[in-house]
Amino acid sequence: MKTILVLNGPNLNMLGTRQPEIYGRETLADVEALAKAEAERHGLGAECRQSNREGELIDWIQAARGKHAAIVINPAAYSHTSVAILDALNSFDGPVIEVHISNIHRREAFRHHSYVSHRADAVIAGAGIQGYAFAVARAAHLLGKNA
Ligand code: DQA
Repeated sequence: MKTILVLNGPNLNMLGTRQPEIYGRETLADVEALAKAEAERHGLGAECRQSNREGELIDWIQAARGKHAAIVINPAAYSHTSVAILDALNSFDGPVIEVHISNIHRREAFRHHSYVSHRADAVIAGAGIQGYAFAVARAAHLLGKNA
């Protein structure tokens, strides 16, 4: 079975308690359950990981080559700072879908630019955690799994 790697960056382990007025009350476990259920609906598997460390995220992106069919990533604050994560994603061949729980374009100017968007096949922002389900569905579509 093909699998999607679902990556979450720094501070997303705090979902549910971190600024709930912006990110909602759902937890990272809820996000991962949602992504897995959506992947299964499309006949795909999902492997979910979260890290507060840029290098660890890069290691997982590198290891995804030849292992995972697509990557769904919420790089969190690294979206706005990390050329290194962009470079790692550029070495991955399959679909890359970027997710932001909040609408980054309605927030501070420093959140309006994402390095990862230079590589992403689609960017979903402001849909809450439902954005992860949309991202998995889009990845499945790009992989030819249209169910
Ligand atoms: C975020 C938006 C980023 O600007 C922020 O640093 C995050 C989360 C989002 O999901 O809305 O940590 O990626």
